[in-house]
Amino acid sequence: MATADQKQHVDLHRKLMLRRALLEQAAEGAVYLPFCGDGDIAAEVYPDRDLFAADIDPQRIATVSARFPKSTIRAADCDSWPFQDLTLPPLAVADFGAYSYPYHAFRAFWEHAPKARRLVLFFTDGQRQAIKRTGHFTDLAGKKQHLTDLSEKRARFNAYWSVWVKPWFEEAIKPYRVVALQHYLRKDMLYWGAVIERNGRNGNGRGANGARTKRTATGEGRFGPAKRKAFLEALRNGIGRGEAARSLGIGRNTPIRYGGRHADFAVAIEEAEMAANEKVENALFQAAVSGNVTACQVWLYNRVPERWQDKRQFQHTGAGGGPIDYRNLGQLSDDELKRLAGGDQPR
Ligand SMILES: C[S@@+](CC[C@H](N)C(=O)[O-])C[C@H]1O[C@@H](n2cnc3c(N)ncnc32)[C@H](O)[C@@H]1O
Repeated sequence: MATADQKQHVDLHRKLMLRRALLEQAAEGAVYLPFCGDGDIAAEVYPDRDLFAADIDPQRIATVSARFPKSTIRAADCDSWPFQDLTLPPLAVADFGAYSYPYHAFRAFWEHAPKARRLVLFFTDGQRQAIKRTGHFTDLAGKKQHLTDLSEKRARFNAYWSVWVKPWFEEAIKPYRVVALQHYLRKDMLYWGAVIERNGRNGNGRGANGARTKRTATGEGRFGPAKRKAFLEALRNGIGRGEAARSLGIGRNTPIRYGGRHADFAVAIEEAEMAANEKVENALFQAAVSGNVTACQVWLYNRVPERWQDKRQFQHTGAGGGPIDYRNLGQLSDDELKRLAGGDQPR
């Protein structure tokens, strides 16, 4: 169980950015907030919504009840559904900000909660970190696993999001379908969110023309070596997965399904995308050191947020209340920018 002094957040700012981005597409309606902690996230992003919150730690519940006196808040284990005795309104948002494993709570919510037609969901998932550190982790079905083989660990770690979490989620939410997905990795933790909707187009297992979509178990039949190579090459050139699949005449999920059965290919997908990201990062860095102020800002806000994000939010004037002097950023040398950016290479 969590202790009162256990740290509630790492990089709260980034968690809030993820939420704000997806909540723009949320419907009106109440929020389910298991693992509510002291309610820091709720105070920032759900101040005007009806809140149904719970946490296992009674001290947190005392804090959050004082902060949100009109909300329904209780001490409970959120791995089960904590509001069995209440009739809730349809929930439009569910925010699973657990320390490490949010999916027991998600399953309980999915089985028991009344859900709006459009739903926004958030998850904090520490299983990738667990895979790397000890190999002991809980899989998406809720089963304890222990990976000992290094290449298996590496494959699961590298492609955790694209090969395991994303396809599992798309299946688990049916008949809902994904409208938008966002994720980021920080210190091996996975933070992600989704906008999903019920009764959408194609929500009945039929294609746009009404014909039932033909699937193979792996999608392998039409995804031979030449297409696999072309798919990876497209990703390396910065083309998105959907677009790359379309251009090869295969289904959007075919490469992911193939990756699910061939860990090497799943890793190759991640590596191809990282290669594309690196090209942009290199170009961004070159623009920054050439004095492009916007490039400097993007680089610094993302590479050293703890030192630069607050400045972006709060510094509206320069010295003595005058205009901000941006020249300093543009005049930094390559070495100075590298030092500020921490010098570490993206993984
Ligand atoms: C990272 S903090 C949550 C921060 C919070 N989501 C926020 O908005 O500020 C994780 C919380 O999960 C709670 N917790 C851990 N295991 C739990 C469980 N099984 N059921 C309910 N709460 C749990 C802890 O007490 C802790 O407050």
